[in-house]
Amino acid sequence: MNQRNVLIIGGAGYIGSVLIEQLLNEGYGVRVLDRLMYENGDSISAYIGRPSFEFVYGDFGNQETLERSLNGITDVVLLAAMVGDPICKKYPELTQAVNVDYPKNLFKTMKGKGISNFVFTSTCSNYGLRKDDSLANETSELNPQSLYAETKIEFEKFILSEAANADFAPTILRISTAFGISRRMRFDLTVSEFTREVASGKDLLVYDQDTWRPYCNVADISKAIRTVLEAPKEKVHGEVFNVGSDENNFTKRMIVDAIVKHIPDANVAYNEGGVDPRNYRVSFDKVKTQLGFVADHSVESAIEELVGAIQNQLFADVEGRKNFHGNYQVSDFKG
Ligand SMILES: NC(=O)c1ccc[n+]([C@@H]2O[C@H](COP(=O)([O-])OP(=O)(O)OC[C@H]3O[C@@H](n4cnc5c(N)ncnc54)[C@H](O)[C@@H]3O)[C@@H](O)[C@H]2O)c1
Repeated sequence: MNQRNVLIIGGAGYIGSVLIEQLLNEGYGVRVLDRLMYENGDSISAYIGRPSFEFVYGDFGNQETLERSLNGITDVVLLAAMVGDPICKKYPELTQAVNVDYPKNLFKTMKGKGISNFVFTSTCSNYGLRKDDSLANETSELNPQSLYAETKIEFEKFILSEAANADFAPTILRISTAFGISRRMRFDLTVSEFTREVASGKDLLVYDQDTWRPYCNVADISKAIRTVLEAPKEKVHGEVFNVGSDENNFTKRMIVDAIVKHIPDANVAYNEGGVDPRNYRVSFDKVKTQLGFVADHSVESAIEELVGAIQNQLFADVEGRKNFHGNYQVSDFKG
C-alpha cells in the first residue's frame, strides 16, 4: 500500500484525468483541486466514490481552499494553468494570476507542511523559435513567442531561484505538446485537431507545414510525473527535464502524412504564411539518462486509435460541447 497522498491541482483537465487513473492504480491517494474552468466535471465523474479519491471544487488562488486542500498531502502536482496561446491571449490578466501569482503563493504555502515533492508542468513552447535545426536541451536559450510561454518561464525562474531554500523537492517538467485519448479530450491541439478534421470528412488547411515540434501522449506525460514522484530526491530537486521522445519530434506535414495513411481521400491544403512562429526540436536525453524515462507511445499509433474512435462515433458531440473539448472560454466560478 502506497502511503503517499498526492494533490493534483488542475486534475480535471486533459492530462490530469489520465494522471488520476495511473496514480490510483499505483495505490496513491489522490485529491484533485479544480475550479472546472471548462465545465469539465465529466472528466472526473468516473472517479467519484473510488476509495482514495477526493475532489475539492475550488480555485487554488483562494488561500482558505488551498490550505484545506493541502491538509494531509505528501506531494503536489501543479497542472492548473491557463493553457495554450489563444486562451492566454484572450484573458491576459487571469493568465498572469493563474500562471504566475497563484503558483508563487502555492510555493510559499507548501513550506513547513511536510511535502515531499512538487512537480510543476511547464512547456517545451518555452524554446519557441530556434535559430537552427539543432535539438534544444534544458540549458538551451528560451525564446518565448507567447504570453503563455512567458508566464511559464516566469514561474520556472521563481522555482529555480527558490529551490535551494525549499523543504520539498521542486521539479520543472517542460512537456511536449500533448496527444492521445483522455476523459477530457482536447481537440484544440495539433495531432487531435488535424485527425478529427480529416476523419470527419472536412477540408484541412495547414499553416507552416515544415515547422517542427515535439509531441507526447498524455499517458506518457502522466508516467513522467510518476517517475519524478518515485525518483530519489537528489535526482529531481531543483531540476528541469524535457518530457517527450526524440522519435515524436514531428513537422505538421509528418502528422498529416500519418493521418492520410488511414484516410487516403483526405483533402489537405498547405499555406506557408502562417501566424504561429514556433519551430523547435527538442532533445530528451536528460530525462532518459537521469531518470530512466522513455515514452511508450508514438504519434502514429495515437492517430490510428483516434481515427478508429472518431469513425466509431465516440466523439460525435464535440461541436455541441465545444468548451469541454478545447480551451476556448472560461466559465464563471460558482463557489
Ligand atoms: N496539453 C498540452 O499540450 C501541454 C503541453 C505542455 C505543458 N502542459 C501543461 O500541463 C498542464 C495541464 O495541461 P492540460 O492540457 O491538462 O490543461 P487543461 O486546460 O485541460 O486543464 C487545466 C485544468 O486546470 C483547471 N484550473 C485552471 N485554473 C484553475 C484555478 N485557478 N484553480 C483550480 N483549477 C484551475 C481547469 O479547470 C482545468 O481542469 C498545464 O499546466 C499545461 O501548461 C500541457
